[in-house]
Amino acid sequence: MNLRLIRGAFESDLVMDIKPAPACGVMMRTLCFPDEAALADALCAALVEVLSGPHAKPAGILLAGGSTPLAAYARLSRQVQRVDTKVYLFFSDDRHVPPNHPQSNYRNIAPLLKSAGIPNAQIIRVEGERPLAEAVEKYARAIDDFFQAGGHFPLGLLGLGADGHTASLFSADDLARGKDQTAVGVQRPDGLAGVSLTAKTLMRIERLIFAVTGVGKRQMAETLVRNPTSIIAGQVIRGHRAVELWSDRAAWPF
Ligand code: 6PG
Repeated sequence: MNLRLIRGAFESDLVMDIKPAPACGVMMRTLCFPDEAALADALCAALVEVLSGPHAKPAGILLAGGSTPLAAYARLSRQVQRVDTKVYLFFSDDRHVPPNHPQSNYRNIAPLLKSAGIPNAQIIRVEGERPLAEAVEKYARAIDDFFQAGGHFPLGLLGLGADGHTASLFSADDLARGKDQTAVGVQRPDGLAGVSLTAKTLMRIERLIFAVTGVGKRQMAETLVRNPTSIIAGQVIRGHRAVELWSDRAAWPF
């Protein structure tokens, strides 16, 4: 592992053992930022680069839910100069709640996107107000139609739960039920149902960045790097060749 200091961030190109399936590991690039603000600045810059385009074909950005990336989303209104008309924003998952529910990722994120000038028509949400199966089916169709229309996903953000989940994929059963699906309905540990993109879909995102901050996530960040397939998040991205872990010093596993 070679550590390089880049723009104040430590970067290590740590290549996990690539073993033959099913024990293959994960290629992972790790970046450590001095603090949450520096990480949010960098995440915002990565989002702005895709948002601005130009894009010859529809370009999707996958947004992580949860609290960690909100600081990056909040920075967009100050950084976005233009939004390419071919860019569409999707969510890695959402709870099965109406769009105005306090626990809706869409409710918490959409105002930040709109204040950055991103048109509502370019934000594709989970319709949590529908019955679960219908919400799953409709969101899966939106993703499938996007790919069918020649769309691609140059960038996706993911969070990492302290229990090792990502998106709303919490268990081996969630992975199994979503095996050949684009999206899957789940029962979350917090008692809510949820709609999540599946590992199959996440593997189609060309660049995946896990944004992880805080000392409470350090152990799980270390597991994601050193023993990825021992946790759900690592199983989800098994075999993906462009995964990055962006953390602050508090969550930095080295
Ligand atoms: C969600 C997310 C989920 C989240 C992690 C980390 O809907 O909650 O998609 O996967 O990213 O739970 O959440 P925090 O960033 O709040 O720690």
